[in-house]
Order: sequence, then structure tokens, then C-alpha cells
Amino acid sequence: MADRTRFDLQDDDLPTAWLNIMPDLAGVAQPLPPLHPGTLQPITPDLLAPLFPEALILQEVSTEPWIDIPGPVLDVYRLWRPTPLYRATRLEAALQAPAHIYFKHEGTSPAGSHKPNTAIAQAYYNKEAGVRRLSTETGAGQWGSALSMACEFFDLECLVYMVRASFEQKPYRRIFMETFGATVVPSPSDGTDAGRKILAEHPDSTGSLGIAISEAIEVAAANPDTNYSIGSCLGHVLLHQTVIGLEAQKQMEQAGEAPDVVVGCVGGGSNYAGLAYPFMVGKLRGETPDMRFLATEPAACPTLTKGRFAYDFGDTAGLTPLLPMYTLGHGFVPAPVHAGGLRYHGDAPSLSLLVKEGYMEAVAYTQNEVFEAARLFAHTQGIVPAPESAHAIRGAVNEAIAAREAGEERVILLGLSGHGNFDMQAYDDYLNDRLPEVEFDDQDLTLSLTELPEVPVG
Ligand SMILES: Cc1ncc(COP(=O)(O)O)c(C=O)c1O
Repeated sequence: MADRTRFDLQDDDLPTAWLNIMPDLAGVAQPLPPLHPGTLQPITPDLLAPLFPEALILQEVSTEPWIDIPGPVLDVYRLWRPTPLYRATRLEAALQAPAHIYFKHEGTSPAGSHKPNTAIAQAYYNKEAGVRRLSTETGAGQWGSALSMACEFFDLECLVYMVRASFEQKPYRRIFMETFGATVVPSPSDGTDAGRKILAEHPDSTGSLGIAISEAIEVAAANPDTNYSIGSCLGHVLLHQTVIGLEAQKQMEQAGEAPDVVVGCVGGGSNYAGLAYPFMVGKLRGETPDMRFLATEPAACPTLTKGRFAYDFGDTAGLTPLLPMYTLGHGFVPAPVHAGGLRYHGDAPSLSLLVKEGYMEAVAYTQNEVFEAARLFAHTQGIVPAPESAHAIRGAVNEAIAAREAGEERVILLGLSGHGNFDMQAYDDYLNDRLPEVEFDDQDLTLSLTELPEVPVG
């Protein structure tokens, strides 16, 4: 009989609580608090109150291992969750590798990626708190799509600052958001101080996630009826994404295997943390010490592999608290590579700490390496992956090749964070040899980090 390739869960298997990694992380390392940029003291919840509802602020600082998922959030999750786990037997055959490659397919969500897992939760908590409108940033357009949908479900207005590089590359993502009633503005824009400042210095700026975050925060801070909603990086976002890994654990049990290595792509860290953290807990507790974790990122924005572990702002204008994380400096504007969702100068503090402490490995790939793997995945499995997710595929393919070369079996679990059906411009550029190989220039790191305040980190 042929190997089983699809592992589905029933409605009843949908997780009813999110997993908070912080208690386990605190058992092996010392998570540092976010700091107030003025006083350099740990921030207090009231500083976040103009931007986020209390429920999300409490999740940000929670030390509880589990946080219940509210019923109305579960009701919406059931529209597409649990998502399927597949074994990529055709990819394995093409690689002629003694590897079993599993992928968790978050591209089956209505918006096309993992992003609705947190968008739905954030919209729900904001609605409960009486908020009228959410403002946000979007890089690839996936996050903006997810939040636009979530706002429609919970009757909120949605204002999206879309990084200009993506706004121009991906008009259909903009139209997708507008279909759900959102207002979409290319960033940097002349509607905010942060945007105007960038445009004055760089009229042709292609934008970055850091700039778009500054614009969205500025609007939320200035309008009492508007809150800010973030697509990645902060603890509550990673928390909401753990439904991915909790489901994948059950599905790997169905498959009768445990991963040797868990691979994902990292922009701010949310999809990868969502997949990895439920497995990581076992490693932190010493139950699965040999399980490996591989974070992948673009060579043009190599935060984990070339950044510095330091306190830095989460946005370009310096409106956020200082976060302890790997960073390329908040002034760094990555080259406009097609993986728009990975063009972020920082990374989630918890994920950064796991890399720093050696629990997680990190690797960076160039655009052509990534799209070569994406094409192989499409040719074998029939799914055109999002350019972001293709980084994880590159990582998994390289792991399989390494297993072949070492003559050993390897079970690889990869996070397919989204489909690439709106990314045809990127594929067109790849197929026609128009993808420049942009690598990070170490000079940029020195320059932008000189702006960082001197704060000691662990
Ligand atoms: C499909 C996809 N994968 C990954 C990411 C990266 O974000 P994160 O690291 O938070 O998962 C994005 C961000 O936009 C995305 O759209």
C-alpha cells in the first residue's frame, strides 16, 4: 500500500487553549522585559493601553502555561481549522532522500496564510473592548488580508498601511483587502508624521515593515476610537499561532513519527513560533533534547544570522517600547525582495532568545535559492508556495539533501505558512531571470545600530 500522505483532524480536535512558552523559557533562560525608551525601565501596562485592549496586554505578560481560546474565536477558526498536515512523498522521491518530509498547510485559510489565527483573536478582543477601528501594517499583504477579514467578521473598520514595494507588486492583495471593506494606503504615506519624514529624506522609498508599523501606531495613538493591531513579533501574536503546532503534534502522532527537525520561515517569528513552540517545550524540559529547530530568513534581511542581540525599537520611527531581540537596526530598510513578509529588521524576543541560547538554529538564503525550492515544491506537490514559505521549503530540501549525503533517515516537519497565488509577479521575475541577488551589506548594520540607545543586554 502507498504511504499515507494526508493527516486530518476532526472539528473536536481543534485546540481550545493557546500554549504560552514563557514559563518554560523562563526555566532555561532569562527573558528580558521590554523597556520604556525614555526611562530605560521595564514598561508598565498603561504605556500600551492607547494601542491594545487590556486582554491582549495581559496575554503579553502572562506566565500561565495555557490561555483559553474564547468561544467566538473558536467559531471562526472552525471555518478552516484544523488545517491539514501532508507528507510530501513526491518531493521526497524527487530528492531521492531517505527523509520523510511533512508540511503543515496554513495556506488553506481563507486569507491564504497563518495570519487569520491571530487576526481573528485580535479583532475579537478589540471589539469586546469597544474599539471602532483597527490600524495596522502589512508587508506581503497576507496580514492585511487576514485582519481585513477579521474586522469584517467582528464589525470593525480596518486601516492598512501597505509597504509600497508590495503595494506595487501585488495589486490583487490590495483589492482582496478592499473587498472586505478595508482602507489600504501605500507606506510611506504623506498622511502621518512618520511617513512624511521618510518621504522628505527618501522620496522614492520602497517602504519597510518598520515604517508601516510607525504609521499605523501613530494613527492609533492619535485617535481614541482606534487601536493598533500587529501581525507578528509580539508575544500575544506568537501565542495565538500555537494552534498550528498543537494540531501538528496530534497529526504527527497519527503519522506515527516525531520530527527530527522542525523548519519554518521567520519574518517577525509568528508562524514559525506557532509551529515550533509546542514541540520546543519538550526540548526545554529535556524530554526531546535532540530535536532540532531551524529558522530560515532572506539573505537580504538576515536578522537572526547577521543581526545583533540588542534592545531596539520595533518600528522605524521609534514609537514602540525597546524590545530585546536580534535586530539589524530599526533604521534598516531591506532591499525590496519578493518575500515582503520577511522584510523586518527585528524578530520576536522569545524566538531571538531561543536562537541566542542555542535551542534554535538559523540560516539565510538568497532569492534564487528560495525560488528554486519553491518551483520544485510546485512541480512535485502542486502547490505554489508564498515566497516567505519558500524559505522554509529551501530549509527542508537542504535538510533532506544533508540526510541523503549522510546516509541517514530524517523526519522533517516544515511550516507552509501560506500559498503564493497572489505572488505571480515574483514567480514571473524568477522564471525570467529577473531576480537580483541582494545580500545584506555589513556596513548597514554598523550604521543603523549607532542610533540605538546603550542598554545592557544579558
Ligand atoms: C505567508 C507568510 N509567511 C510568513 C510571514 C512572516 O511572518 P511571521 O514571521 O510573523 O510568520 C508572512 C508575513 O507577512 C507571510 O505572509
